Amino acid sequence: MEWSEKFNIGIDVIDNQHRQILDYINALEKIRATGAREQIKEVLDDLIDYTQSHFSFEENLLSQVNYQYLPSHRGIHELFVKRLNDCRQRFANGESVEHDLYRLLSKWLINHIQHDDQDYVDAVRDNMLHYLRSQEQKKGKSWFARFFS
Ligand SMILES: [Fe+2]
Repeated sequence: MEWSEKFNIGIDVIDNQHRQILDYINALEKIRATGAREQIKEVLDDLIDYTQSHFSFEENLLSQVNYQYLPSHRGIHELFVKRLNDCRQRFANGESVEHDLYRLLSKWLINHIQHDDQDYVDAVRDNMLHYLRSQEQKKGKSWFARFFS
């Protein structure tokens, strides 16, 4: 699956992380036909770890801008992480889950980016503008101000 411009939500740091997840999904798809189980496990672990840290990053950003739908967004992330961990468990039990996982991930990721993530962009931008104005007076930059030019 190829990255498309229409997947960009317009916040560079998030777009780059989404691209990285897509790279892992593609790596999994590539390796599942030929790879040994150990190799598949490695990609699977990396993919799940990276996805979880991306979610934490996103939730941290959304909490800094007081995004009003953060609780439900977080709930969506939690449910998805649970499904990923179920897959990991099934794989550990000897089942072959790579194909299901590829379909789940690619469908879920694109849908999540284009709907749930797209929904917070305005809130992040509005809050950033407000925040940057207040920071200008203090002459400091927070970690998340760096992502906006
Ligand atoms: Fe999200």
